[in-house]
Amino acid sequence: MLALPLYSLQVLDRVLSSHSIETLLMLTLIIGTGIIFYGMFSALRTSLLNQVGHWLDYALAPKLLEDAITKSSLGQYVSAAQHQRDLGQIKSFISGGLGTLMDVPWSMVFLLVIYLISPALGFLTVVGMVVLIAFGVINEYATKKITEQSSEGMLKSNILADTASRNAEAVETMGMMGNIIAHWQRFQKPAGEYAERGAARANMVQSIAKIVRLFLQIAVTGIGAWLALHNEITVGGMIASSILVGRALAPFEQAIALWKSFLSARESYHRLNSALATATQLERGTLELPEPEGHISVENLIYTPPKAAPIIKGVTFRISAGESLGIIGPSAAGKSTLSKLIMGLLPPSHGAARLDGAETFKWNRANFGKYVGYMPQQVDLFSGTIKDNIARMDLDAPMDKVIHAAQMAGVHDMILRLPNGYETQYDQMRYSLSPGQRQRIGLARALYGNPKFVLLDEPNTNLDGDGERALLGALTRMKQAGITFIVVAHRPTIVSMVDKILVLKAGTVERFGPRDEVLRMYTPAGVRQSAPAQGSGDPSSLPHAAEGGIA
Ligand SMILES: Nc1ncnc2c1ncn2[C@@H]1O[C@H](COP(=O)(O)OP(=O)(O)O)[C@@H](O)[C@H]1O
Ligand SMILES: [Mg+2]
Repeated sequence: MLALPLYSLQVLDRVLSSHSIETLLMLTLIIGTGIIFYGMFSALRTSLLNQVGHWLDYALAPKLLEDAITKSSLGQYVSAAQHQRDLGQIKSFISGGLGTLMDVPWSMVFLLVIYLISPALGFLTVVGMVVLIAFGVINEYATKKITEQSSEGMLKSNILADTASRNAEAVETMGMMGNIIAHWQRFQKPAGEYAERGAARANMVQSIAKIVRLFLQIAVTGIGAWLALHNEITVGGMIASSILVGRALAPFEQAIALWKSFLSARESYHRLNSALATATQLERGTLELPEPEGHISVENLIYTPPKAAPIIKGVTFRISAGESLGIIGPSAAGKSTLSKLIMGLLPPSHGAARLDGAETFKWNRANFGKYVGYMPQQVDLFSGTIKDNIARMDLDAPMDKVIHAAQMAGVHDMILRLPNGYETQYDQMRYSLSPGQRQRIGLARALYGNPKFVLLDEPNTNLDGDGERALLGALTRMKQAGITFIVVAHRPTIVSMVDKILVLKAGTVERFGPRDEVLRMYTPAGVRQSAPAQGSGDPSSLPHAAEGGIA
């Protein structure tokens, strides 16, 4: 960077007065070498900064995705897309702006050279630097608040846009589009206006800074000429200091221009930092254990979500390996919450849920997952083939294991009727697969890999008659295979085949015992003794009986 001004200085002062062609050649050679090094170093710096960007992508991006998934599993709204946007901001600042900021300290070298040529010009340059720094500070204050408000609004509008796309069917059929757009604009519009105002202010500060810099350059040249006329400096010194002052002030001016990108990156950095700081508190267990037999024991389990009343208020029960349990109760009784506690998804506030004596929450997830199957109340599938989905997205899964799981779930024939069978892409079928069909594939996913313990949360909510028969078949096969399982149900139709029943009401166990014993409690004397699935009476009366506390 010093090559050009030093070259001008030497050529004007030495070559022109001495008429020496050798000096000119020698100077050109030295300066040429310097410029080649400059080019190589600046390429090296850019490439290093780009590599830092790539490193962020492979080191941090997976952690951020993990953070978003973990927090979502605990019921917090964390957008994986927002995490990646934040990472993108930081990356683009590192590869686009950081290099320029690194030039700022080198301005001192230029300043020193100017000072050596003429202390007066050096002093003038210092004044210029101070003025530009002042503009930088003004820029920070003028735009910081506005930038924050803008990105906060953007965040909210993105969340709304996400949820609206997920509920597209409701939006379209009920003509909610106008309302949704209006709602979205309530966040998006001010965000856009703030962004515009911020940009306008930054633009003004930048333009003034540019004028200041140009004036200074002219002033240095003018004063340089005056000094040269009085023989205080040489003509070469005058030209060189004019170039040098531009070089010395340019990084400051560019830093002001880059300020917006710096602010966004800083904000993204803070968001990701606090996300990752809370992520470490959520780290789950590391326990790795051999294959369990399938004994489940729940001891005095209490669960209180953060800043809310307890949902599970002291649940205790036990089932042995190979046994099956039906958990029934009215909606909002806490059945799904209890299921998540049993599966080690939520941290118990008190007590424990154990599989073969080991607390499920403390179990390493990957290790635990090999031995269990879980079908959440809301089943959605991943982008990929039906085979990938059943194989829990293990892309190297052997086909026979996949087919075995599908046959256990009673969904093999249904899959064969899909356009490409097991190779059907779920994305193309998203709208033609009914929720019931999705649920049945979810059941096959739960049964993949011969788990020892399986929990199904309301597996029959979306099933038709055929689907329900397939489900009952699946439960029978699970029993034969010796799998311990828990079926959660709102209505008692599918509990006909479980060994034990637990009636959950408002977070406490109302009844727990062998199936027939528990069901008898809820049957008006002598009216109905047969299996409830046959439905001679009204099977749906049970939770209502539980609700009304008839027993
Ligand atoms: N993270 C949470 N924070 C606060 N309340 C919750 C949370 N999760 C569930 N609940 C509440 O706990 C109750 C039980 O929910 P849930 O376990 O889904 O019941 P069920 O599956 O029996 O219908 C509901 O009233 C629900 O609103
Ligand atoms: Mg539920």
